[in-house]
Amino acid sequence: MLKLKGVTKVFSGNKIAVDHLDLDILEGEIFGFIGPNGAGKTTTLRMITGIISPTEGEITIGGHNIKADAISAKKQFTFVPDQSEIYDAVKGIDYLNFISDMYEVNIADRKERIERYTKLFQIDDALTQSVNSYSHGMRQKLMICGALLPNPKIFILDEPHVGLDPHSNKILKDLMREHCEKGGTVLFSSHVLEVVENLCHRVAIIHKGKLIACDTLEAIKHNRTATLEEIFLEMTKDE
Ligand SMILES: Nc1ncnc2c1ncn2[C@@H]1O[C@H](COP(=O)(O)OP(=O)(O)OP(=O)(O)O)[C@@H](O)[C@H]1O
Ligand SMILES: [Mg+2]
Repeated sequence: MLKLKGVTKVFSGNKIAVDHLDLDILEGEIFGFIGPNGAGKTTTLRMITGIISPTEGEITIGGHNIKADAISAKKQFTFVPDQSEIYDAVKGIDYLNFISDMYEVNIADRKERIERYTKLFQIDDALTQSVNSYSHGMRQKLMICGALLPNPKIFILDEPHVGLDPHSNKILKDLMREHCEKGGTVLFSSHVLEVVENLCHRVAIIHKGKLIACDTLEAIKHNRTATLEEIFLEMTKDE
């Protein structure tokens, strides 16, 4: 569903943020992307979503190359970035309608989905207010609702659990599970290892731009009884 081959990003000053990354994310799986601060998670997600270009390597989404076939590739996913960047002057409902227009969600589906998701996240009452009156968490929930609306094949999120209250986090986890039960794919980065451990079919660990593990939790643990946190700390500790 989502393939990365030799993906590398070198920023100015020869800073290698992502170093020859290979990933193959399958249809119907919840895939967790973890790694210490500065490991290259956001850079990788920004390359996958076409916000920045890799220095080297290839990315295909549902068989479409993100560079050569950008529109078809971008129709396959939606993305919730780590910063909720929405124009302040826009009303919540206008933002959701704009996303629905872009992804050509029909009127009946958008009405039903907007109602369902905004009620679940308890922002339905705020939809006629402009986004500049929203709290940080409300903005984030609006972006998550927007990203769910098109019912994308791949739902990609960068640290979605930061800033959400426990109730909203539970809703998001349930919606991620529901998405993949319906055959969709979820890719998200996180530092909340308990969530990753409970939710993901497979996990990739990135450290200093390099992939140091990519497997099911059972395989990463090698039959040991350690938690993902213990394994993570051991694998990413500086010698
Ligand atoms: N635009 C940029 N210009 C230069 N260097 C950058 C840029 N964006 C990221 N980097 C560098 O690339 C590396 C990876 O950053 P990235 O944001 O991908 O890390 P991350 O794994 O998402 O970290 P965090 O857990 O803190 O969000 C870091 O060393 C960072 O300083
Ligand atoms: Mg990041």
